Amino acid sequence: MGLKPYLIGNWKMYKTAREAVDFIETFVPLVAGYQVNFFLAVPFTSIASAAHIAKNTALLIGAQNMHESREGAFTGEIASLMLKEAGAAFVLIGHCERRALCGETDETVRKKIIRALADDLLPILCIGESWDEKESGDTEKVLKKQIISALHGIQSQDAKKILLSYEPVWAIGTGKSATPGIAQKAHAFIRSELTSLFGSQTASQIPILYGGSVNPGNAKELIDEPDINGLLVGGASLDPEIFAQIAKKLTEKNL
Ligand code: PGA
Repeated sequence: MGLKPYLIGNWKMYKTAREAVDFIETFVPLVAGYQVNFFLAVPFTSIASAAHIAKNTALLIGAQNMHESREGAFTGEIASLMLKEAGAAFVLIGHCERRALCGETDETVRKKIIRALADDLLPILCIGESWDEKESGDTEKVLKKQIISALHGIQSQDAKKILLSYEPVWAIGTGKSATPGIAQKAHAFIRSELTSLFGSQTASQIPILYGGSVNPGNAKELIDEPDINGLLVGGASLDPEIFAQIAKKLTEKNL
């Protein structure tokens, strides 16, 4: 559907601010001229220096989480306006590690999306089924529930400001990527759910990314699937050379 492909690196709890700057200084020249939307989700402490060094480059810096409230007595939490002022352009919401390890529910995910949209921070909604859910044939049921609970009540014009990432939990950090066929089937289903919620015109404009053990060896076959508009990369985004190799595959996507 002709969207310029997206490549998002999710650094999780890796890299200091100094290391983030070193990475960006190496990575940006490696991908100069590539027709790819580049995003890097860095730790909170790296946002300001990463955004400063990435200014005037094709790379957008963002966060991996935020609190759903505008401000308040929430020790250790961070608000969307704080992220924006530090230089974040986007935020990951509902990553499976946050759902599994930090008790994030469908309802908090929904509130965070609404807050991010209100504060003009691009939300990237992460969804995906566990291994057991996949094995019981419940993938579509789980995806539908996650999509509807996160996005109900959101207007079409706001839906266009959201990205989705399909990240099967069983593929994250395991080295076991979904096959292109499995990923495409899930993406087509997600697209049909978005069509039911927002109509086909809006649904066709919402980028749907795949995440889970992406590497330079499987990036091309994944990105060539018609409903895969980009890739969300964890481990393989930590090395600038490897991340740039993945970026190169995205420039070869059959649009
Ligand atoms: P992975 O992580 O690429 O290391 O599997 C992906 C993610 O957590 O978004």
